[in-house]
Amino acid sequence: MLDDVLEGLSGRQKTLPSRLLYDARGSDLFEDITALPEYYPTRTETAILNAAAPDLSRRIGEGAVLVEYGAGASVKTRILLDALEALAGYVPIDVSDDMLAKTKPLLQQDYPELPIHPVVGNFLVPPPLPDIDPRARRVGFFPGSTIGNLDDADIETFLAGAAEELGPDGLLVLGVDLKKSPDILIPAYDDAQGVTADFNLNLLVRLNRELGADFDLDNFRHEARWNEAESRMEMHLVSLADQGVTICGKRFDFAAGETIHTENSRKFDPAQIERLLAASPWRVAENYRDASDLFSVLLLERR
Ligand code: AVI
Repeated sequence: MLDDVLEGLSGRQKTLPSRLLYDARGSDLFEDITALPEYYPTRTETAILNAAAPDLSRRIGEGAVLVEYGAGASVKTRILLDALEALAGYVPIDVSDDMLAKTKPLLQQDYPELPIHPVVGNFLVPPPLPDIDPRARRVGFFPGSTIGNLDDADIETFLAGAAEELGPDGLLVLGVDLKKSPDILIPAYDDAQGVTADFNLNLLVRLNRELGADFDLDNFRHEARWNEAESRMEMHLVSLADQGVTICGKRFDFAAGETIHTENSRKFDPAQIERLLAASPWRVAENYRDASDLFSVLLLERR
């Protein structure tokens, strides 16, 4: 973590890795974001999944194993757990041991018959799956458009790794946020209650706590920017003054107005999705979307 932080802050455009947003407080704040009126992705994807559930169940068939990449609190998963027939198992993969340990008993209570096999790991490097019936069809689930937080190279790595792990008969249910007006996007990433601002600034709180950095929280503010050329929302932390920050004995100077780029959230158009899939072992079997074309849930099969 220290190496990544020092390297990110040493570039001309200062950056910090977006995965560092998700400590315990950051994960809670993200859960709060998903319930904000301005944050359309969660409720839109949930509605699409609810509407698609019977068709997904028919296409997936009985007795599959559901593998979720970056499972978090497994909230949307319940739509699939309710719809899919006689699941042979559920494998939530997450970097947070705590989150997996917290979620498992809650799920087990509601799905007493379901074999749940949590796996701690980074989905970019898919960890080996537990030994579940090798004949069962494997279905990956990667909701929330978390794929939009990855760059092209990481998307390619993920799609190839998931194909390998899910096998030739495997399917992948993938949530993808679509390109739309900045009038909708900017408030979704800069909400009136300031929850997204707290989520972004919490990164500096974390560096102060875990690396002994001395960021002055009153001297940075959250900014959400639409980058049209890259078709992505960006989160930045803007320095409000000329100032210096020290991390593990290394000093970093900030000019007033200079930013730390903390996250990309890509918004895809159909051509981009086509291009990313063309470089992968997957093709679209079905495309479920909402009436306003805000979000899309793709059912992918092997080509
Ligand atoms: C997790 N990920 C899909 C969220 C997104 O929309 O890119 C993270 C987020 N960042 C700010 N608000 C939500």
